[in-house]
Amino acid sequence: MTSKETRQKFLDFFEEKNHRIVASAPMVVKDDPTLMFTNAGMNQFKDIFLGNRVSKDLRIADTQKCLRVSGKHNDLEEVGVDTYHHTMFEMLGNWSFGDYFKKEAIDWAWELLVDVYGLNPERLYATVFEGDNSDKLDADTEAEELWQQYLPTERILRANKKDNFWEMGDQGPCGPCSEIHVDLRSDADRASKPGRDLVNADHPQVVEIWNLVFIQFNRKASGLLEGLPAKHVDTGMGFERLCMALQGKTSNYDTDVFSPLISKISDLSGVSYTASDNQTDVAIRVISDHIRAIAFAISDGQIPSNSGAGYVIKRILRRGIRYGYSFLGFKEGFMHKLIPTLAAQMGDAFPELKKQQELITRVIQEEE
Ligand code: SER
Repeated sequence: MTSKETRQKFLDFFEEKNHRIVASAPMVVKDDPTLMFTNAGMNQFKDIFLGNRVSKDLRIADTQKCLRVSGKHNDLEEVGVDTYHHTMFEMLGNWSFGDYFKKEAIDWAWELLVDVYGLNPERLYATVFEGDNSDKLDADTEAEELWQQYLPTERILRANKKDNFWEMGDQGPCGPCSEIHVDLRSDADRASKPGRDLVNADHPQVVEIWNLVFIQFNRKASGLLEGLPAKHVDTGMGFERLCMALQGKTSNYDTDVFSPLISKISDLSGVSYTASDNQTDVAIRVISDHIRAIAFAISDGQIPSNSGAGYVIKRILRRGIRYGYSFLGFKEGFMHKLIPTLAAQMGDAFPELKKQQELITRVIQEEE
């Protein structure tokens, strides 16, 4: 299944379940002092969760452009070294604002993954929140029981607050979550070591694909949890990882989300990509990842600069350039030459890329 079909199937599935499909919010956040970049699909709905704004729609779904480069949710220096973390990524999400809750979120996640996308259920694991004394929270036995309809108990795992209590940042909406992980290893590897031992263990082929968050609290500046007026659902599925699973690959970079960019980088540099840990392959992964972050940020109006969000973009761009010069033999600017490939690949889902193609190219070229 191509990445375009995968994205569309997600949106069609939730539209059929009466969700309104909305556009991605900008990746660059202008109106929230706690956040520079959108780091999750739920950011644009923060005020609805907190009860400060009422949504016309009780159910929404979309694909959201996210950027995780610093702070709570990622580390720039790791990106490109492994095969499944990114700076910019798409998060497929469905939301309920005080409408459906755990049962529907879990039932529909299963239906979509197994019946619609055709993932092998034997490769799936679910994790649930084990509870936490410091926050005075019990284990999520409700989610655990709901998963028992679909999964044997040995593939339902309890996990701690770090993995199974999702928070947007130090403050803000939060709640226990239930994650779905997929084991993409070979049958022989799966027979020799059970996947349950590798869930949440940084294994590149046993990865989280979908996080179902049951938003019920607001984390206050004091660190205390305050109950929200209503209960909400916030789900986020890693689009690139889902494509990896559906395309039978073991690296996000081997999917058609990245392969056009990787071919272009190889053409420009004369270095072929061998999907290994070689420095040249790391460099190609770094560049194919970073060009997406930079292009999307510029199309959202954030140009590289020396402070704040602009400085983050500048650092990402420089990291891409440095890898290209150090390991792929580039002697002049090359990143701007990737924009036509990116716009052709993603411009239908994100028209801003096509509309701003000239500006994006010019800004990158000047920086280079
Ligand atoms: N907010 C959750 C996450 O980012 C689910 O969307 O994982």
